[in-house]
Amino acid sequence: MSNETIPTTDRPDSILVVGICGSLRQTSYTRMALKIALKGAAESGARTRLIDLREYGLVFCHGGDDATYPPDVFRLREEVGAAQGIILGTPEYHGGVSGVLKNALDLMGFEQFEGKLVGLIGVSGGTMGAVNALNSLRAVGRSLHAWVIPEQVLIPQSSKQFTPDGQAINPALAARLKEVGRQVARFAYLHHSTRAREFLRLWEAAPENPGGE
Ligand SMILES: Cc1cc2nc3c(=O)[nH]c(=O)nc-3n(C[C@H](O)[C@H](O)[C@H](O)COP(=O)(O)O)c2cc1C
Repeated sequence: MSNETIPTTDRPDSILVVGICGSLRQTSYTRMALKIALKGAAESGARTRLIDLREYGLVFCHGGDDATYPPDVFRLREEVGAAQGIILGTPEYHGGVSGVLKNALDLMGFEQFEGKLVGLIGVSGGTMGAVNALNSLRAVGRSLHAWVIPEQVLIPQSSKQFTPDGQAINPALAARLKEVGRQVARFAYLHHSTRAREFLRLWEAAPENPGGE
């Protein structure tokens, strides 16, 4: 999407941040973490929505004719497409992103991600954190032409981090999760504000080599 076609807004509550959960497990720690991050986005004035992939009848991405996909693929595309900020949450599965999340991402594309702000949250059972999953997701975000924010949250030893009702046991973890949500919301707002669009327009119109002949 070019700068000219990105809608502008000067109202924080017109920003929508969605969280996409890459675990289908009923008591998923990834989902708990995402819900806390979305609270941070809401505290910054954004509207929020959790996209729980258990509620979508998705199929594997086949890379072929879109017309063969079931309606929920298009519902997912529409709902993510409506967002200006996206938080991706994944468990570390065998040193990488969960297949559930990667498949959902493969079913989408530039229309849902280009120019959007993306935050990352990774959850692992082991002590290493989901660093491999998040490094891989960062590259996926770049390929989708999204702005992946530097702040991210890695949650090791997931079974020790949350109460049964989904609260982070350590307040510092809750604060970090909320900060990712806040930053996605704030940068999404910044990207869509009229003044930022004007700045970007002028910046892009600047001569390529002003010091040259
Ligand atoms: C198929 C599979 C592979 C996993 N691979 C890893 C791994 O490579 N490293 C790790 O630390 N934990 C691994 N785990 C543990 C999960 O990261 C951990 O249970 C996490 O909490 C799952 O996310 P969830 O609670 O959102 O479902 C694996 C779990 C599964 C089911």
